[in-house]
Amino acid sequence: MRRPERVRSHLSGPWYNCRMTKPTYAIEATDLTKSYGKNHVLKGINLKVERGTMLALLGPNGAGKTTTVRILSTLLPFDGGTVTVEGHDVRTQPDEVRRVIGLTGQSAAVDELLTGRENLTMMGQLYRLTAASAKARAQELLEEFDLVEAAERPAKTYSGGMRRRLDLAVSLIATPPIIFLDEPTTGLDPRSRIAMWDIIKRLMANGTTILLTTQYLEEADQLADRIVVIDGGKVIAEGTAGELKSKVGKDRLELTFESTAALEKAGKALGKTVVDTNAKDYTATVVIQDINTDVKNTLAALEREHVKLVSMAVHKPTLDDVFLSLTGKQKAAEPNDQKKEAK
Ligand SMILES: Nc1ncnc2c1ncn2[C@@H]1O[C@H](COP(=O)(O)OP(=O)(O)OP(=O)(O)O)[C@@H](O)[C@H]1O
Ligand SMILES: [Mg+2]
Repeated sequence: MRRPERVRSHLSGPWYNCRMTKPTYAIEATDLTKSYGKNHVLKGINLKVERGTMLALLGPNGAGKTTTVRILSTLLPFDGGTVTVEGHDVRTQPDEVRRVIGLTGQSAAVDELLTGRENLTMMGQLYRLTAASAKARAQELLEEFDLVEAAERPAKTYSGGMRRRLDLAVSLIATPPIIFLDEPTTGLDPRSRIAMWDIIKRLMANGTTILLTTQYLEEADQLADRIVVIDGGKVIAEGTAGELKSKVGKDRLELTFESTAALEKAGKALGKTVVDTNAKDYTATVVIQDINTDVKNTLAALEREHVKLVSMAVHKPTLDDVFLSLTGKQKAAEPNDQKKEAK
């Protein structure tokens, strides 16, 4: 998805003055490596995020997503490679990097014992806002993130969805131009996930550069301009959702018949265009190169043999298919699995 021009740029921050000299990429990592003892967690990660776009880092549990995000946001030292954020080297200029980023997710800085409002004002003061502007910004964010009613309650009493919204609000106190979102929707119910997507889309509309990690193909597909798929500490694919899908190939036609006899007859009528059959469900899968001609030809072949169809569906490759074909593994957990919580 390409986004329109920035609606509102980050004119109020200290980064405004250096806008003209910014490099093309807001985030750039080259040959990034990291080991914990003998465990090579990152084996040469390369990624670039263009300013004002979202990159999704997609991968299963243990792929190295959090490790990458923590390195990119100056929280974790690394072994090899280079990382720049807005042109600042994370190794030698960590303070400059911290000034332009917000970080939220699995390692977020919410204090459980403080109320939502206190968390926000405290973080505002850490960012050196005056007491009055920290207070005003906290109120603004509570309203924007639908947390006004819960504002005076300790964060530990918040539901998962409220907690994620507070996490994100805290990281936005100073409206940073770059934000890292580490699995912002893992463990949320579908309604909270969609609410979170709306918030993220608003950030995108404001021109924020976002690096989001996710295990959910659908999330990357919905939100991101580009996707980098990582597995076992390596980049195994990258591109737009469309490009990745086209790598897995062709559309398929799923045909359902009324009996085993009909399925067998169809198999004969369609010959080698059939790539898969399922005797239990009386279904056959046909690969189609061209939706305009191949569907027609398939139906004509069935009609010639008087085979009756029960149903027919065109299946376009999904990112799940991409993941499966790239890693040879089943895809990660479904979004409504509640198994994983913030670490
Ligand atoms: N502090 C640490 N010490 C040793 N090993 C670690 C440490 N942190 C992470 N690892 C290992 O590094 C690998 C990558 O972990 P990481 O947390 O980056 O994965 P992830 O992609 O974020 O996974 P998840 O989806 O579960 O959050 C895993 O094998 C993990 O066990
Ligand atoms: Mg992680």
